[in-house]
Amino acid sequence: MLKWMSGFADPNGPLIYKGVYHLFYQYNPKGAQWGNIVWAHSISTDLVNWTPLDPAIFPSQPSDINGCWSGSTTILHGNKPAILYTGINKLNHQVQNLAYPKNVSDPFLREWIKSPENPVMEPTTENKINSSSFRDPTTGWLGKDGKWRVLIGSKRRTTGIAILYKSKDFVNWDKSKHPLHSAKGTGMWECPDFFPVLKNGINGVDTSLNDNSVRHVLKVSLDDHKHDYYLIGSYEEEKDRFVPDKGFEEVEIEYVFRYDYGKYYASKTFFDYEKNRRVLLGWANESSSVDDDIKKGWSGIHAIPRAIWLHKSGKQLVQWPVVEIEKLRVNHVNWPTKLLRGDELLQINGVTASQADVEISFEVNENDIGEAEVLEKWTDPQILCSQKGTSVKSGLGPFGLLAFASKGLQEFTSVFFRIFKFQNKNLVLFCSDQSRSSLNKHNDLTSYGTFLDVDVLHEKLSLRTLIDHSVVESFGGEGKACITARVYPTLAINDKAFIYAFNNGTTDIKITSLSAWSMKKAQLNGKL
Ligand code: FRU
Repeated sequence: MLKWMSGFADPNGPLIYKGVYHLFYQYNPKGAQWGNIVWAHSISTDLVNWTPLDPAIFPSQPSDINGCWSGSTTILHGNKPAILYTGINKLNHQVQNLAYPKNVSDPFLREWIKSPENPVMEPTTENKINSSSFRDPTTGWLGKDGKWRVLIGSKRRTTGIAILYKSKDFVNWDKSKHPLHSAKGTGMWECPDFFPVLKNGINGVDTSLNDNSVRHVLKVSLDDHKHDYYLIGSYEEEKDRFVPDKGFEEVEIEYVFRYDYGKYYASKTFFDYEKNRRVLLGWANESSSVDDDIKKGWSGIHAIPRAIWLHKSGKQLVQWPVVEIEKLRVNHVNWPTKLLRGDELLQINGVTASQADVEISFEVNENDIGEAEVLEKWTDPQILCSQKGTSVKSGLGPFGLLAFASKGLQEFTSVFFRIFKFQNKNLVLFCSDQSRSSLNKHNDLTSYGTFLDVDVLHEKLSLRTLIDHSVVESFGGEGKACITARVYPTLAINDKAFIYAFNNGTTDIKITSLSAWSMKKAQLNGKL
């Protein structure tokens, strides 16, 4: 978890350069709310401990004088990084600008120089682009014709659009006649991200790779919904079209996969060629009120960086915290196989409950599967999670973890599974229930959830939860679904917080494994 004073939002332009990870981010140097946006800059050698540097990009020319909004980096020929970002110009129009490092031999890339050609893309009467819906350039990828391509998020009326631009030199850009992709009724597409994933294997690949070994992912942050949705499909390079296997058009937005079903937005990936992985960074926005943010003096964190790859089914992505986070683990607690009886609450002793990493796996006995509650009609899983929260019993579940639990359980955040029978199939609901997370009712206490594609009779039902003061980040089904919650308990803080494994269903469930660790503090203000 990364946190700085003041207002903190979208990750921008992550990259690895000369062995150093760089993360830029939307940042308000003057307050805990959104405003005065610059690109702040931090560096790291492990994606866990970070050193802040001076802001890399801040308003200084007519094409960005009213703000330096989101964008990406691309490594150009000769290992030269370039930033494309959205500037808010004198007229308050959104335009795209280019910047280069002042000194490419500096691994910290401290200073950036803006191109004299800025803006390099802008709305005009000819291209008919809406000047208030034209932002967040992606990382570029190189086509077989030697031209760079980038996407810019946009909309026309309520149709979300990924506008495509092409360039030979990264400076002079031509808008393509057709967008790479668009979808009616989805509203503004913010922070698009477009990248290949291997059909087989968990390694990441370079953003420009396009051959038979890969599929493509298009992620968009839907402004109207404030969630990050992704589509898997094929990229037809000759036509510069993305053809999703299952689009927004065919199903309701609610059925499209999200990176995370909780607070997670404006995310971006990069290819870490040193470790051959694709890494995802995302902004976990606040659940506290703006007044409380101003009082505490900061807002916004970044979730723990995740490795991301295509599941072997080819149908969805998998995400898992980068392995470096495990360096923070201390005081390992390990349980032998245990039966978690109906109505049972078992405290997980020996770890610091306010900063912990817990991995737990459950097994449902085949003879008990008949106990699953029948779900008569399909219901939005998030609604189901709030209707059937932690205190609502069923045959199989809820069972899972209580994080940030106060001694008398006046407060807790619970992450749990519940198994239904739906159309003769076993259906796993995965929830993060914040309804009791804080006695401070100014916090957003919405519950989140999704269905999880796990065959409970043949696969283990696993949960990993990373807990850190105001964040509960959960990975269900070995990373098939993630839910990030932001919570502000008033009683369950520091050494007054406890963690439990619980089963509030009527049927016993087996815990096949439990490992828990206290987590050391990451260094967020490291010195060079
Ligand atoms: C997403 C976003 C982007 C924009 C930036 C401004 O959170 O709205 O579309 O570039 O934030 O800070």
